[in-house]
Amino acid sequence: MQDLKELSERIAAIKEEISEKTKTLADSKSVYELKKTFLDSKQGQIGALMKEMKNIPNESKAEFGKTVNAAKEWALNYFEKIDAEMKAKEMKLRYESEKIDISMPAKKVEYGNLHPITTVRNQLTDLFASMGFEVYEGTEIETDFYNFTALNTPDDHPARDMQDTFYLTPEFLLRTQTSAGQVHVMENNKPPIKIISPGKVFRSDDDATHSPMFHQMEGLVVDEGISLCDLKGNLDMFVQKFFGEDTVTRLRPSYFPFTEPSVEVDVSCFECGGKGCKLCKGTGWIEILGAGVVNKKVFDNCGIDSNKYSGFAFGIGLERIAMLKYGINNIKMLFESDLRVLDQIDD
Ligand code: PHE
Repeated sequence: MQDLKELSERIAAIKEEISEKTKTLADSKSVYELKKTFLDSKQGQIGALMKEMKNIPNESKAEFGKTVNAAKEWALNYFEKIDAEMKAKEMKLRYESEKIDISMPAKKVEYGNLHPITTVRNQLTDLFASMGFEVYEGTEIETDFYNFTALNTPDDHPARDMQDTFYLTPEFLLRTQTSAGQVHVMENNKPPIKIISPGKVFRSDDDATHSPMFHQMEGLVVDEGISLCDLKGNLDMFVQKFFGEDTVTRLRPSYFPFTEPSVEVDVSCFECGGKGCKLCKGTGWIEILGAGVVNKKVFDNCGIDSNKYSGFAFGIGLERIAMLKYGINNIKMLFESDLRVLDQIDD
């Protein structure tokens, strides 16, 4: 650079460049970046002008310095203005995007609730626990021995046809009844025994009231002097607490290989009080479970002295109880996880 005239031209070009480039900036970060290319003390274009001072004749040096400083001042002010405008624009955009419309309807909060089978299981467990029963959790995979043979149902026994079984191997199967747990409990505990055992059971069965997987709750009481009366007394207590104080039970003769005598237990219809309605199919009674006095042969198979001890057992179908209680007429509704159905059942 030779003289002040050339400096003025350079400054004019720089100003032109600044005002051109600031027209297309998108945000305050790019304002900052651009500002640096002109005003950075080391690399900035305006700062670089000062280095030309050495080529300027002495008498012009003061004027040169003043001119460069004025240009620097101008650029600083210019960028400050652009930056303020950009920040205001950004703030406005942010306000727009974060604007809350307090007149909008609120988002609905969906509450989950327990599945009806879980609810029934919990209620029955609480109820029997209050009567002194302990909970035994059996396993879903069982051997043929525990599910059948030890329960007085040997290989060729016709009662095996009562339950269509899913065999995993000739020895292992998916338990068809929670009764399979009875034998484990009696093998490992001395009387007095007073347990319930809730869980999943499996049978190759599928229609409006049967599902290949369903839930049962087994009950087993073993002690000296236990009789059918104790079974009836305990079940009466259960149904009165569960279905209502006026409910009564009725025992009908039945057959299970592991109980003798065996009974089907009906409750007086809790819908019509026994007069006869749609729920009880006009009979006034509803069948709710199978039960009986523990067969001596089962005690023998578990090493319990059948001359000293006696007991009773019962098996409740939880789906059946849930369907009765909540007025569900197809068992599939309990397994389809349709929230329109499940939402209505909240106990
Ligand atoms: N296990 C029988 C069933 O699944 C029910 C039952 C249990 C009957 C205990 C008598 C005693 O059908």
